[in-house]
Amino acid sequence: MRLLCAPLSSKVNRHQNKTTLPSLLSLPLFSMVDYEEVNPDDGLCAVIGNLSVADMPPKEHQEEEIVVSRRDPTWGNCERIEKAWKHWRSIGEPKFMVAPMVDNSELPFRMLCRKYGANAAYTPMLHSRIFSENEKYRSSEFSTCKEDRPLFVQFCANDPDTLLEAARVVEPYCDYVDINLGCPQRIAKRGYYGAFLMENLPLVKSLVQNLAANLKVPISCKIRIFPSLEDTIAYARMLEEAGCSLLAVHGRTRDEKDGKKFRADWNVIKAVKEAVKIPVLANGNVRHMEDVLNCLEQTGADGVLSAETLLENPALFAGFHTEEWNEKDNDVDGGLDQSDLALEYLDLCQQYPIPWRMIRSHLHKMLGDWFRNQPHVREEFNKQSILTFEWLHDMVTRLRKECSRIPLYVKN
Ligand SMILES: Cc1cc2nc3c(=O)[nH]c(=O)nc-3n(C[C@H](O)[C@H](O)[C@H](O)COP(=O)(O)O)c2cc1C
Repeated sequence: MRLLCAPLSSKVNRHQNKTTLPSLLSLPLFSMVDYEEVNPDDGLCAVIGNLSVADMPPKEHQEEEIVVSRRDPTWGNCERIEKAWKHWRSIGEPKFMVAPMVDNSELPFRMLCRKYGANAAYTPMLHSRIFSENEKYRSSEFSTCKEDRPLFVQFCANDPDTLLEAARVVEPYCDYVDINLGCPQRIAKRGYYGAFLMENLPLVKSLVQNLAANLKVPISCKIRIFPSLEDTIAYARMLEEAGCSLLAVHGRTRDEKDGKKFRADWNVIKAVKEAVKIPVLANGNVRHMEDVLNCLEQTGADGVLSAETLLENPALFAGFHTEEWNEKDNDVDGGLDQSDLALEYLDLCQQYPIPWRMIRSHLHKMLGDWFRNQPHVREEFNKQSILTFEWLHDMVTRLRKECSRIPLYVKN
């Protein structure tokens, strides 16, 4: 019997405007469930620092209603935008963020990235209908803890009431409820969510409006860009108008799926930033800290999201980079390597248990360079159908002994 972080089992009455959740204080943050009961394939798409949260400003938004004037839309908008910024400041204006990643931006990974400079993080995308209907899905796919803030909880959805029902469950545990409007995968096409809602903007608008009118926590949206700049700007403005308080812009279109093949367009992100008044986050083309700083400067965005680079190097936001981005003479061994990070990650997984498939996926990415040096260790790892922490610790120790060290670098 193992413990799995399973914070949520409260019921929500979908016909009420107010949530029937007990307050955060009266609800035990984690319940115990039998880890073995969690089917690793239950996930929706099985593929696909130093900040101390104790230092965070109090969460003023929890006591505030976001007021939207129905009579004077211009006035209502100003008020909302002011609130959006007030909230953004109240969470410390985070600049370095862990992007949402199915099966990969789970609690232990978020905590590892936070330790190494990330000052906010997204959960993996959660399916709003399954989340509101299925206790087992909630328990295995969403967990958090007191230090896991600021936190964006991301949902995919195509029904406003279902999304609201799911969002009400997580509202007390997060700083934004985020809508995934950017997933371009086939599964999103079949399920009609993510970037496929770009074809149905009235539906997108109603998803945002319904959340904004009924939640206390602000709403954020993560979007991809349209092929036309004009359409992208109109889209961003519509989201802002509908009640979105923060916009994360991935600078690739829905068809530009391969991040290695297509560069994200920072000019479009810049244009969106200039066109809307709410905080904007930039996403795409971030491989090391210099990219982060260039991206912030070139787009004017309020923060950056990183996904793929963090998987390989969770210490990105603390200024570490892999050998690939090394400038000879300019960079030095940072005294940290990916095997150190892997061991720290395993400790966090013991503290905050998650399905093994996620651990397996992270170790493959974090230790990719080490496995390339020692392919037989990777083969053994792949063959090992049942994992234990002891076995994984031994594997990392062996890699450290048998492989010459591959450091992470920092600027001299
Ligand atoms: C493994 C993986 C899972 C992802 N899952 C999600 C997701 O759940 N929700 C989402 O909005 N984007 C998801 N993305 C997209 C990333 O959040 C990000 O937008 C994209 O990878 C571009 O950022 P990058 O260039 O830093 O990788 C995922 C990306 C990866 C690599």
